[in-house]
Amino acid sequence: MIGLKIAEGREAEVFAWQGEAAVLKLYRPGYSGHFAESAALGQLEDSGVAPRLIDVVQIDGRHGLVMERLVGTDMLALLERQPWRMFALARMFADAHVLVHSVQAPELLDVRQLLATRIEGAVARPELRDFALRILEGLPSGDRLCHGDLHPGNVLVDAGRVSVIDWTNTTRGVPEADYARTMLLLERADPMPGTSLLFRGVMAAGRSAFARAYSRTYRKHSRDPLRHFDSWVIVHTAARLAEGIEVEEPRLLAFLDRAWRRAAC
Ligand SMILES: Nc1ncnc2c1ncn2[C@@H]1O[C@H](COP(=O)(O)OP(=O)(O)O)[C@@H](O)[C@H]1O
Ligand SMILES: [Mg+2]
Repeated sequence: MIGLKIAEGREAEVFAWQGEAAVLKLYRPGYSGHFAESAALGQLEDSGVAPRLIDVVQIDGRHGLVMERLVGTDMLALLERQPWRMFALARMFADAHVLVHSVQAPELLDVRQLLATRIEGAVARPELRDFALRILEGLPSGDRLCHGDLHPGNVLVDAGRVSVIDWTNTTRGVPEADYARTMLLLERADPMPGTSLLFRGVMAAGRSAFARAYSRTYRKHSRDPLRHFDSWVIVHTAARLAEGIEVEEPRLLAFLDRAWRRAAC
């Protein structure tokens, strides 16, 4: 039975479900992220790094996933409240990501396909879009689970346990594709709406230190090669320009423009 609403985002509302043990993520009409999310949670069944999927339901014509209810606080809120834990949290965040990348998900959409679609819809000059699409064509495919939106707001921390949520953008690919997307989010994405002014200031100072600590641990603990990191960052930057986050656009466009000019020389 549906209980109280716990949270809501652009794509879905999250409710308590049958007491304390589970939550229902109910997608808004017209959203179909439940396909990727249920496939990913199925692959992650025994990994301990994501909530357990309990059921797939339809309520009033809307798709819903019933999943294990996690206790804990999201890592963004923890960073705000306990900034002195930043380095330890960055290491936990990186280790969770390495674990995600050890999982195979051959039946999911190829990350390159998703990126191509987004780049075609990016708010950028045609030559910048073509530049990113040409780079994308040269990048390899892979069969590893890629979260697609891994940032501290999508990680819940309960004592020592780290759980990754929000698997609606999940695809398959080489791990470094997903690592590059997270680096882009950590270094250049806008803090989420609702972030306090004070925390925006702290974040501006702390985000590159968090990104560096994440990157160090990820590179140390991952067995997968990083061969085309700069290219993946370029294609993710172009694709991000299709997400409609206007405040980021000047920064992302300037980065893309510099990469385009460098390649033209
Ligand atoms: N399995 C879960 N257990 C407890 N809380 C959850 C769970 N899944 C989601 N939530 C809560 O709901 C919020 C939104 O969920 P999320 O999957 O990130 O969707 P959105 O697409 O709206 O960001 C999370 O930040 C978290 O507070
Ligand atoms: Mg989320």
